[in-house]
Amino acid sequence: MLSDRLPDFPWDLLEPIAKIARSHPAGLIDLSVGTPVDSVAEVITKAASLNLDAHAYGLSAGSKGLIAAQTNWLIKTTGVVEENFNTIASIGSKEAVSLMPLLLGLGSNSVVVIPEIAYPTYEVGAKVVQAEVIRADHPDLVSAKKVDLVWLNSPGNPTGAIADIETLKAWIMFARKHNAVVVCDECYLTLDWEASASGQPPVSILDKRVNNGDLSNILALHSLSKRSSMAGYRAAAISGSKPLIEKILLARKHLGLISSSVTQAASVAAWGDEDHAETQKQIYAKRRATMQAAFLNAGFEIKESSAGLYLWMTRNEDGWESAAWLAQFGILVAPGSFYGPKGKNFIRAALTETDERINQISERLM
Ligand SMILES: Cc1ncc(COP(=O)(O)O)c(C=O)c1O
Repeated sequence: MLSDRLPDFPWDLLEPIAKIARSHPAGLIDLSVGTPVDSVAEVITKAASLNLDAHAYGLSAGSKGLIAAQTNWLIKTTGVVEENFNTIASIGSKEAVSLMPLLLGLGSNSVVVIPEIAYPTYEVGAKVVQAEVIRADHPDLVSAKKVDLVWLNSPGNPTGAIADIETLKAWIMFARKHNAVVVCDECYLTLDWEASASGQPPVSILDKRVNNGDLSNILALHSLSKRSSMAGYRAAAISGSKPLIEKILLARKHLGLISSSVTQAASVAAWGDEDHAETQKQIYAKRRATMQAAFLNAGFEIKESSAGLYLWMTRNEDGWESAAWLAQFGILVAPGSFYGPKGKNFIRAALTETDERINQISERLM
C-alpha cells in the first residue's frame, strides 16, 4: 500500500495535546493548522454562484478566462517577462506539491532536494515515487552527484524565511547543471510584513531579475487558499517554463486532474481582484502584531517570520514541551519537529484564528 511508505500524518500525532487544549473552559485557540477563518469575498462567491450549473467537463489547464486571469496576476505580481511563460490550474497547491515528482516521471533512482525545515508534503511527494530526499538550504551544501528536483519555498512555511535573489540564482544554476527541475512554492509571496518594510521584499523565481528572462527548468506555485481565503475551493496555479508546463499538463489530462468549473470561475474573480486580497492581508497583519506581542511577553523568541502566515518561535526547549505548555491555556500550536529535525526546538503558530480568539492569547498567558 502507498500509505505504508508515508510518514504518520503529523496532526494525528498532535491529538493528545489537542485534547488538553480543547478542554480549556474558555475554548480552543487553534493556531496549529493554518486554515483560513475569514469569509470569502462577495466578488468571488458571486462568480461561483453564477457557475453552479457545471454540467460539462472543465479543462485540465483551466478555462481560457482562468489562464488569462492567472497570466495577468503573474505579470503584475512576480515580475515575469510577459509571453515568456505558461500557467495552468491545479487543485490547490498541496496537490501540485505531492504529485510533482510523479508528474515529472521521477522514481526510485531519483533525488529530491527539500528545505532543511520544510512543509511536510515535499517529502511525501518524493516518497510517493520512492525517490531519495536530501535536506539543504543552499546548493553548495548538496554533495549528491545527481539531483532531479529541487523544492524551494519562499516565503517559507513554517519559518517565514525568504530566499534572496542570489540564492534563487544559485539554485537555478544548480538545477540546470543537474538537468533538474527547480520549483519554488510561493504560496505566501504577497504576505510580506517586515520583509518589504526593510526593503527586501520576497522575490519570485519567475522574476526576470532572477532568471534573466530564461525560464528553462523553472516552475513556481501560487495559491488562492490564503491570499483569498479560498482554501476550501482548492485553487492554485502552476507556472513557468513553457515546455515543462506542456508535459505536466499532458500527464494531468490523462490523470483527470481538473479543477472544478465552479472553482475555476471563482478563481477568475479572485486572481483579478486585489482589493479583497489587500483587505485580507491587513487582517492578518493586525492579528500578527497581537500575536507577536502576546508570545514575546510569554517568553518566546520569534525567529525569521518576516513574511508568510506563521510565527516561528522558541523557548529554547523541545517544541513538544512548548506545545504542551501552551495547550494547558487552550492554545494549540504545531511542534517544529513536524517540519524536519532542525525544527526540534521550535513551535509554529498560524495567524489564522478569529480576532476574538487571538485577542485572548495574551490574557491567557499572563
Ligand atoms: C508551503 C505550502 N505549500 C502548499 C500549501 C498547500 O496549500 P493549498 O493546497 O491550500 O494551496 C501550504 C499550505 O499550508 C503550504 O504551507
